[in-house]
Amino acid sequence: MRKKVIVGNWKMNHCRNEASEFVSGIKDEVKIAKSHNILIGIAPTYMSLDVVSKKKPAGLILSAQNVNEHASGAYTGEVSISMLSEVKGLTHIIIGHSERRQYYGETNERCNAKMLAMQEANLTPIYCVGETLEQFEANLTKKVIKEQVVTGLANLSAEFVSKMIIAYEPVWSIGTGKNASKEIAQDICCFIRKEISKLYGKRVANKVIIQYGGSVKPNNVKDYLTQPDIDGALVGGASLKASTFIELISNLY
Ligand code: 13P
Repeated sequence: MRKKVIVGNWKMNHCRNEASEFVSGIKDEVKIAKSHNILIGIAPTYMSLDVVSKKKPAGLILSAQNVNEHASGAYTGEVSISMLSEVKGLTHIIIGHSERRQYYGETNERCNAKMLAMQEANLTPIYCVGETLEQFEANLTKKVIKEQVVTGLANLSAEFVSKMIIAYEPVWSIGTGKNASKEIAQDICCFIRKEISKLYGKRVANKVIIQYGGSVKPNNVKDYLTQPDIDGALVGGASLKASTFIELISNLY
């Protein structure tokens, strides 16, 4: 049985004091969720990672939102894997979020380089895939996702892939309030699992956690998480206030 995993991606929101208050606010819910076999995580900005690390209750997943693929060097403004490894309790890094692909030119190849470097450091990716509105309308969704999966995961070990999280986030549904229907989300998450199966076999495909992301809210989260191939959600806007995030999580019980 795969666990359910709900991760809040704060994007460029919350200063350190807000991050700290948020963690205090969700402490109890993390425990309750765990008793329902649901893991909760948050991905603050780099600036708040240490604050969250110090305050976080056991069992709360701590994720970064990005990392550079190089070990060190002249990459102004970037942060390396060994720097993130110094943050106590940090276990995950979001890779290839569509906002990074869209605004910072991140490619599947670069995502792959980042994940190959993470493999060495024993950190787990939350690898984001998803099509743009144009691609969706041109019926290219599966072609695009296949390319993101095949290129993104190239040369990663089966063991590493079996532990990772893949988040299907259709670009047209992020922050727009236009959700993919649960049927579309299930169809694509199932497609991703089949692609993983082709690459790594059924055992790995059955282990990998696949999330849906894009306008997930307290009132629709259950629709997604009751689908057979959707194991969780990557939540943006609805993860910013502790009360809304708690409502979203508790609507799953
Ligand atoms: P929203 O939930 O705000 O649509 O954002 C989704 C997302 O991009 C999470 O990574």
